[in-house]
Amino acid sequence: MRQSSLVVVANRLPLDDNVAPDGACEWRRSPGGLAGALHAILEGTPATWVGWGGGVGPTLSLPDIGTLRLRPVPLTEDELRGYYEGFANSTLWPLYHDAVEQPVFDRGWWETYRTVNRRFAEAAAEVAEPGAAVWIQDYHLQLVPQMLRELRPDVLIGFFMHVPFPPPELFMQLPRRLELLGGMLGADLVGFQRPQAAHNVAQLASKLLGARGADDAILMTDGRVVRTGAFPVSIDVTEMEALNARSYVVNQARQLRHDLGPHKKVLLSVDRLDYTKGIEHRLTAYSELLRDGHVKVRDTVMVQVAVPSRERVESYRGLKDRIEREVGRINGEYGRVGEPAIHYLNQPFDRADLAALYQTADVMVVTPLRDGMNLVAKEYVAARADDTGALVLSEFAGAANELEDAFQVNPHDVDGLKDTLLQALDADPADLSRRMSAMRAHITENDIHAWARAYLTALDHTGQLARRLPRQREVLVNRG
Ligand code: ADP
Ligand code: G6P
Repeated sequence: MRQSSLVVVANRLPLDDNVAPDGACEWRRSPGGLAGALHAILEGTPATWVGWGGGVGPTLSLPDIGTLRLRPVPLTEDELRGYYEGFANSTLWPLYHDAVEQPVFDRGWWETYRTVNRRFAEAAAEVAEPGAAVWIQDYHLQLVPQMLRELRPDVLIGFFMHVPFPPPELFMQLPRRLELLGGMLGADLVGFQRPQAAHNVAQLASKLLGARGADDAILMTDGRVVRTGAFPVSIDVTEMEALNARSYVVNQARQLRHDLGPHKKVLLSVDRLDYTKGIEHRLTAYSELLRDGHVKVRDTVMVQVAVPSRERVESYRGLKDRIEREVGRINGEYGRVGEPAIHYLNQPFDRADLAALYQTADVMVVTPLRDGMNLVAKEYVAARADDTGALVLSEFAGAANELEDAFQVNPHDVDGLKDTLLQALDADPADLSRRMSAMRAHITENDIHAWARAYLTALDHTGQLARRLPRQREVLVNRG
């Protein structure tokens, strides 16, 4: 068994569904912040990624992607339902997102969640070199840190939560709260998107585990210290800048602008089709602006990209039906022949086409009801090389902590949302340019490489781990 000094453990492997006939394997940029963020860092870094390859049943061994080895973890159909669709995405996901959708507590799912977490821990234990660093990701694998500590006390264990960590009063609803909290605190360093999350965990650790919790460290009853902190995840700004300059992207953006109506203001939203993203609130606000005559189809158009996600989970199916009905109603009432009020695209896009969409949008509308970070907001900023465009951003996205110059909004307040959309549509270009330039400066300084370096330096004080990551320039050279 080949072992690595850096092991990343995440629910999904980032591989393409189709391995080519010659065995070559390509990154599948699955639409989700986690895969995108890690992809940027691990391309060119010697490491092993432990994860589920999609589908059910035994997974064949997978070819390496450059310096990255893939270690698949198979799931059965029952495990997919109980662990991924059940406990992870019907219990934890809604609860961690302010319970904007009712979490489901099904007692049958817990055992499966535990069994699958153990399988991930065993796989990580197998591929980690003596003294390796193992970096576990997200709510799917919250029990893995403690399980791995028992199997391999010699390794450094990091855990990063990409989604929000809820306030104690919500977390306390979880029937298995003790195991979930203790499991996560098996790590040496637990990272979150926002400082508030570390505060919530400190309070819970004191209350539930009898630990001494502060916002940057927790002293466990066995004397072990777990460090905690905020490490806001980011995007690969260099990748986005390289895309911006590609002639395909520039031409595609020009074509899109022509197709949408050269003189129209374009409002754009890009989300996974998820109830946390506030798509329905946004459609209500836009529809009321059309109804009240504040916005007219002849001079404004909305594009909603909603990539299919977790399609077998009941709450996602219901959402899709509601959104499609509402888009149909709005177009039926306000559209004209050849001139819809909303273009609705329920499909994945490749990076270049997404970049072209970002370049076309006068107003980017990002209105999640709760979101760990929201990388789409950062991607839009990175795509606006000329400092034009307006970003409307929910206060409840982690990105709002950093992108202070966005038009921030409470998406639950539909009247406030309508006013903010109008403000963004009518803003003075000089004001927009000042805002965009400040936001671009922030994300350029705080890109995905800075995130990985900050986290890994905190995990390993010697700085050895961080030094192994490629610098931005090397990443570009590797990509040819
Ligand atoms: P989440 O992780 O909850 O999905 P983020 O906004 O953090 O939300 O990350 C979404 C990622 O998925 C972004 O990198 C975005 O570019 C990508 N994405 C969103 N929609 C699509 C789509 N239709 N096709 C391809 N990628 C998409
Ligand atoms: C969010 C989660 C990720 C997840 C992604 C896509 O970003 O934090 O862990 O991978 O959504 O969701 P999916 O269920 O398709 O993996």
